Amino acid sequence: MYVNIGIIGTPLSHTLSPMIHNYFFHNTCINGGYTVFDIKDASNLENVLEFLREHHFVGVNVTHPYKEKVYELCDSYCDFAEYSKAVNLIKFTDKGMKGYNTDIYGIDKLFELNNIKVDNSSILILGAGGASRALVTALNKFTNVDIFISNRSVAKAEAVANLSTHNITVIPYEKLSTVDCDIIINTTSIGDGGYDFLNIGMGIRHYAIDLQYTSGMTPFLDFMRLRYKHLQLVNGIDMLIMQAHKSFNIWTGREFEFDIKYFKINMLKL
Ligand code: ATR
Repeated sequence: MYVNIGIIGTPLSHTLSPMIHNYFFHNTCINGGYTVFDIKDASNLENVLEFLREHHFVGVNVTHPYKEKVYELCDSYCDFAEYSKAVNLIKFTDKGMKGYNTDIYGIDKLFELNNIKVDNSSILILGAGGASRALVTALNKFTNVDIFISNRSVAKAEAVANLSTHNITVIPYEKLSTVDCDIIINTTSIGDGGYDFLNIGMGIRHYAIDLQYTSGMTPFLDFMRLRYKHLQLVNGIDMLIMQAHKSFNIWTGREFEFDIKYFKINMLKL
């Protein structure tokens, strides 16, 4: 059987997901392919999903900006997707479309692989979309964290804060200068030149983490690097790869050994 999987979102011109999943296909000797569907118009989403189901796709990843919208279209959920109300993976089943969230697993692995000590730290989250929902859900497993969240739309930040088992403080952009924290994590999709609103002297002690990944420095990490020379910078590549590993397992049922360091050096040339 040929296993058809892929990704929906936009923009997707630089996605590494096909390369990652083709490596997994190769490793597991499963015959299949990973197709990119760059959907510019959100009103086409339902038709595209119906097309994929009719053409026997096993499922697709869902990325920016559709994780919350696709949540609303699913018929059933894994616990994490149901909790976060964000879906980054769907599987077509006999009973309809099942939504999963493997970003939460990917974020957990990002902390682990980069030896980031989350417990007993204070964290500022930027953004309140699908990735932010996954992050806030991933942070529930830690017992002692102080969390702040800031977003262009304050109402969306409040909705994400309400998801948490922690008492999250919502900070409007204009008040960010009052923040003093150990870790700043970017979940927004802001591109080059968009981070000037952070030019206000926040106190950040240890890490700047970007859940985005680009093959060079991300715009957010570049911005932070120039202003906070002492920070350790971490991009989202480990999250991307580990959520993909989990996704592949959900679609194919196949568990396999996987050395992420080898993969990054030899396959992605990072
Ligand atoms: P993802 O699935 O990657 O989280 P998303 O759900 O579309 O993507 O969320 C994108 C996030 O980036 C949101 O927090 C969005 O802010 P709003 O909620 O106010 O829309 C943020 N974002 C995107 N472009 C932005 C910009 N130019 N300035 C500020 N925030 C931006």
